[in-house]
Amino acid sequence: MGSIANATTIENGYLFACENALVKLELFNAGTVRVNTIRANKEFEKFSYVVNGTPIYTPHEYFEESDYILIQTAKIKIRINKNPLRVQFLTLQGQIINQDHPSFGTSWIGSEIASYKSIQPNEIFVGLGEKTGNLNRRGSYYTHWNTDYFAYPTNGDPLYVSTPFFIGIHGGLCYGLFYNNSYNSKMDFGASNDRFTSFSAADGEMDYYFFYDDTISGILSQYTSLTGHMHLPPLWSLGFQQCRYSYYPDKEVLNVARTFREKDIPADVIYLDIHYMDKYKVFTWHPEHFANPDEMIEQLSEIGFHTVLILDPGVKIESGYTIYEEGIEKNLFLKYPDGDLYRGDVWPGKCHFPDFSNPETRLWWGEKYAPLIQSGIEGFWNDMNEPATWGKSIPDMVEFNYEGIGATHRKAHNLYGLLMARSTYEGTKERLMGKRPFVLTRSGFSGIQRYAAVWTGDNIASDEHMFCGVRLVNSLGLAGIPFAGYDVGGFAGEASPELFARWIALGAFSPFFRCHSMINSRDAEPWSFGEEVEEISRNYIKLRYRLLPYIYSTFYEASQSGVPVQRSLVLNYMNDARIYSTDYQNEYLFGSSFLIAPISSTQVLSKIYLPEGFWYDFFTDKAHDGNSEIIIDTPKGSLPVLVKGGSIIPMQSAVAHTGVEGDDTMEIHLYNGVLKNSFTYYEDDGSTFAYEELQYYLREIILDSEIKQLSLKAKSGQYHSRFKSARIYFHGFKMERPIQKNGLALTLRYTDYRFVLPLSNFDPWDKEQDASKMIRDLPYVQIALSDEEIILCWR
Ligand code: GLC
Repeated sequence: MGSIANATTIENGYLFACENALVKLELFNAGTVRVNTIRANKEFEKFSYVVNGTPIYTPHEYFEESDYILIQTAKIKIRINKNPLRVQFLTLQGQIINQDHPSFGTSWIGSEIASYKSIQPNEIFVGLGEKTGNLNRRGSYYTHWNTDYFAYPTNGDPLYVSTPFFIGIHGGLCYGLFYNNSYNSKMDFGASNDRFTSFSAADGEMDYYFFYDDTISGILSQYTSLTGHMHLPPLWSLGFQQCRYSYYPDKEVLNVARTFREKDIPADVIYLDIHYMDKYKVFTWHPEHFANPDEMIEQLSEIGFHTVLILDPGVKIESGYTIYEEGIEKNLFLKYPDGDLYRGDVWPGKCHFPDFSNPETRLWWGEKYAPLIQSGIEGFWNDMNEPATWGKSIPDMVEFNYEGIGATHRKAHNLYGLLMARSTYEGTKERLMGKRPFVLTRSGFSGIQRYAAVWTGDNIASDEHMFCGVRLVNSLGLAGIPFAGYDVGGFAGEASPELFARWIALGAFSPFFRCHSMINSRDAEPWSFGEEVEEISRNYIKLRYRLLPYIYSTFYEASQSGVPVQRSLVLNYMNDARIYSTDYQNEYLFGSSFLIAPISSTQVLSKIYLPEGFWYDFFTDKAHDGNSEIIIDTPKGSLPVLVKGGSIIPMQSAVAHTGVEGDDTMEIHLYNGVLKNSFTYYEDDGSTFAYEELQYYLREIILDSEIKQLSLKAKSGQYHSRFKSARIYFHGFKMERPIQKNGLALTLRYTDYRFVLPLSNFDPWDKEQDASKMIRDLPYVQIALSDEEIILCWR
């Protein structure tokens, strides 16, 4: 870059002209700084598909000395050495948060541009989204190049989604760094060197955003202010979902759906994979297997099932096929520089590929959903959108419209999935008459959370993959993507009954909960592994439905703040060394209250780690001190679920699907703890955007175990809760009567309570067994739920 020759003020920042580079520094807010470097003779890019946040006026001070410049906001100091230009981020007290490597800084090798950063003492790196490997990325490197990777190994890279955003942690500090560059890029966390970390891209700019905050949640909130938040998904998409490559014909689809109802296993969604189409032609139906799709969708809907359809981008080259003909006529497909259309092979055979970077293509593709929506479909599954072609190497010269600016495949490849999902989300939203669309995507880039949920592609039925999926979803959460999941049971290969039982229990505590499996493999519905596994599946799926008030409120929180639903322990306990150990790195929090410890299919005794605080076994109420390793029985199908002391967990009665209201009494489970805690309860119609016009019901619930008081603050919003009363359960409290509601005495009752049965010693004819999983003499009170503040006090 050379040294700074000249510094000028620009809107929200400064421009530094160096001998060989131009560096723009923009203050987005007191903790978010953009550093954008290009070659001296180039112009800055004006457009990004990813960043939709804008800088806000940020009060700061600016000092210039002979050899450096210092910029200070309310949160950080940025010291810019002049000769050569090097950037340092410091706390207000002067502790280094992150700094350019003094020798290498930002530099080029041909068109490749890289930033080198000094590794801080004991620095740990986490996040990066859909990347395999350990929670701590130190010593690894990763490539960002979206790839269709069937049956990827548990250290495979790159996979389907790229989010070049990581979080660094050292000396009690944390920061985030997002490299906004869609070319093939690399992030190296000191893989084969001990001097620096680096991030580099094959071409384009060095354009990174630096985020500083005391907490990782704060960093995620800044990152998602920049790249966008998830919209609240429809409630049905938080229910259980059943998929298969592929259910056909229509009778089989109906048969599977009806079996859920007959067997009393709750479910909301059934998927149609590629066989519903005619010769895999997108936006068609198979003439024999699905001769009357409207009728089938209607019948499914009558029993409470939503149908989700797969839609791949490849358009079959076949004269007479409308989508193909229109795409050609309107000039919407990808082309070579000589004007010839790009052809690649996928399921339908030779295909052309829509150019989703052309706004017209996005609109056109969006319109194509109209007949499907007319038929009653509200959920769309975008697959193969890396884009995948057999051979896996689309020529780099292939050209993209890129909003009229023009770009080659080198720059647009990683954005293809994001833009296809955008076209689907926008196109379907416009046509769903006020209902929320559900879009699931395999590929994406930073910002994908604005349009779609992500699943982790073609995993394998193995214990290692079950754990790998958990870590992928944990780190997708750390990359601003809260709505994510894995194929429960494993896509490729076949799960043993033990593995399936564990996996489905785990899936009940993942944001996106779907079973899916590969063509020509054994049946993999919850009832296909014998009666015992069926019972275990039913119990955990029912538990998922009982927890929906808690889960939905947690999704609401994620949609507002960017804090994920499934939270790697690093989010709350970044300074606790044990959470990074390979023994415990899979553990996570599901929402703010549950700690989930994934265990392998055959393990019947498990050691798990409980971070600071006080914890309860969710199934037995057994209490444990935190900061400790505990050993617990984990018979077939059981899952360690611990509840943090101080938790407030709203639950409902079990329902067959989210279209059923259930009874009108909400359960609120309180867990004794030392600290004051609060929970934001959120409810709305679960299906429309009316919440944007105040049609929601939001209520702060505060538990103060010390002064022995629970308050349900007055509700806000104009929506009326479907719950008329609440039954409040006190776990781990020594309750001595009397208890009062708003100053008036209330009757305290006691009950035996059971969350999941059976977990072990299964005997299908003895429904009463396994009383050990029963919580005895649990105190509770029943209250009417008015909208005004309710205060409960006890002794
Ligand atoms: C891809 C998807 C998989 C799907 C299959 C057939 O492999 O990842 O989920 O079942 O294609 O469409």
